[in-house]
Amino acid sequence: VKLGVLISGGGTNLQAIIDACQTGYLDAEVALVISSVPGAYGLERARQAGIEQAHLTDDTDILEALLDHEVDLVVLAGYLKLVTQPLLEAYPDRILNIHPSLIPSFSGKDYYGLKVHQAAVDRGVKVSGATVHRVNAEFDEGEILAQEIVPVLEGDRAEDLQQRVLKIEHQLYVDTIKKVIQNLGE
Ligand code: GRF
Repeated sequence: VKLGVLISGGGTNLQAIIDACQTGYLDAEVALVISSVPGAYGLERARQAGIEQAHLTDDTDILEALLDHEVDLVVLAGYLKLVTQPLLEAYPDRILNIHPSLIPSFSGKDYYGLKVHQAAVDRGVKVSGATVHRVNAEFDEGEILAQEIVPVLEGDRAEDLQQRVLKIEHQLYVDTIKKVIQNLGE
């Protein structure tokens, strides 16, 4: 199975996926990494792993690149742009995302990056977590595939919660991708 990973930032989830492909845990390869942000550190991770990378911002161009690389499954990993029709049509149910909260809490267009965790800390919730979901035309609205909980601790700053959630994201995402890949064959 060929994966196309879309990023905008540091790419720790991308790294976890690359590693899982290399160890054989995932029966897949990352065929292409696309960043919406030039110079994103995730592009450097791709370069170091010998994976092709591109900086693209238009969904028609992205689709062309994905098709060129025969991508089967599209994985968003810290990708900040809304996915639009050309991609959704070409990859129905085959675009995944991970969001660093328990959707529907702290999700949607206003919640990204540290803002998600700041909102959780401000609201005083006692648990947060991460959600893997399929992508549709709205931010964070597609079918939920997996969720995992982390505690919010007394005195947590948004940065503390962000780190605690990020730590569980990597395995959660890789495990969910593995299940989705298994189901692709059926
Ligand atoms: C993660 O928290 C992910 O849930 C969110 O953006 C962050 C990306 O982190 N969508 P990284 O670039 O994978 O390190």
